[in-house]
Amino acid sequence: MPSNVGPHGRMWSRNRGFRRARLPGCVKRHNVDGRCTQEMRVVPSCASVLFLKRYKLFTDVRTDMRRLQGKRALVTGAAGALGQVICRRLVAEGADVVIVDLARDRAEALAAELGRSRAEAVAVDLTDFDAVGEALTAVQRERGVDILVNGAGGGAVVPFAELDAETWRTQLSRNLDTVFNVTRWVLPGMLDRRDGRIINIASIAAVSGGRLVRNASAYATAKAGVVGLTKALAIEVADRGVTVNALAPGAQATPGRDQDSAERRAALLDQIPTRLLGEPEHLAEAIVFLASPAAVNITGVILPLDGGHSI
Ligand SMILES: NC(=O)c1ccc[n+]([C@@H]2O[C@H](COP(=O)([O-])OP(=O)(O)OC[C@H]3O[C@@H](n4cnc5c(N)ncnc54)[C@H](O)[C@@H]3O)[C@@H](O)[C@H]2O)c1
Repeated sequence: MPSNVGPHGRMWSRNRGFRRARLPGCVKRHNVDGRCTQEMRVVPSCASVLFLKRYKLFTDVRTDMRRLQGKRALVTGAAGALGQVICRRLVAEGADVVIVDLARDRAEALAAELGRSRAEAVAVDLTDFDAVGEALTAVQRERGVDILVNGAGGGAVVPFAELDAETWRTQLSRNLDTVFNVTRWVLPGMLDRRDGRIINIASIAAVSGGRLVRNASAYATAKAGVVGLTKALAIEVADRGVTVNALAPGAQATPGRDQDSAERRAALLDQIPTRLLGEPEHLAEAIVFLASPAAVNITGVILPLDGGHSI
């Protein structure tokens, strides 16, 4: 041990007495309990890691900030406005992505953008259970899915008195059956490996009983079904290494919102306590968090992303 380093890695300084040794390239941090930690700004050399370990300073060295390195994520509705942002973020965090969507062209274009070594596109109608099974069996043949994001869906605005049976069934199928169909094929592999993250995209419509999304009763019902499925499945698989959570986004700043008139936008913002639309990047960040090791003990949560709109 160097002569100026005392017990527990403390280093003698003429002016300040004993203090924690600090290496070049480290940022000094303190835990809530006052213990000093070291976080590397740069990838540390073997020598510096050995030094930190030797003097018990190696408490918070992150050599790779990408939280999903080596994981494989399957995202449904991936070619849509939110799905594209989610896929880009998952790839940036180190995951490979399977882009699943009805829209083949947009799915292929996204896969090309993200790079064929990191992304593949699968075009399938997710309301068709057998077709989903066929497509996903092929996808999972060589490698399983670690993270499933069920994002396919979309709402129809029709007053209940004008709602026909076909629209009702289509809404339930697009927003709820799709979640069942994909999860049913992906979950067994997760259970076998005792490792998996399922993140469903519900809606503020599900948690507000439709109060905040008017004339969308079929959509609200379907998304409430997603919430129910999320909680029931979370309990069922909680002790088998799989977490199941849902997001309940409010209005998001997607390109579709650009057509809103100034009056409509102002009326919407008036109802949102933060006076902010949801940013797709923030939604993607919530997904990365729920898929990350830090969320291993979080399951059955319905996370509102709505600026307090549903309070
Ligand atoms: N955008 C918002 O403000 C908002 C708010 C709350 C919840 N959501 C939910 O987030 C999810 C994504 O929304 P978005 O704004 O990106 O919508 P979007 O319409 O841009 O994308 C939805 C995608 O799902 C795909 N899809 C629909 N039905 C499918 C099917 N049967 N099989 C395969 N793919 C299918 C579509 O092709 C589309 O690419 C949806 O579930 C939506 O209900 C969105």
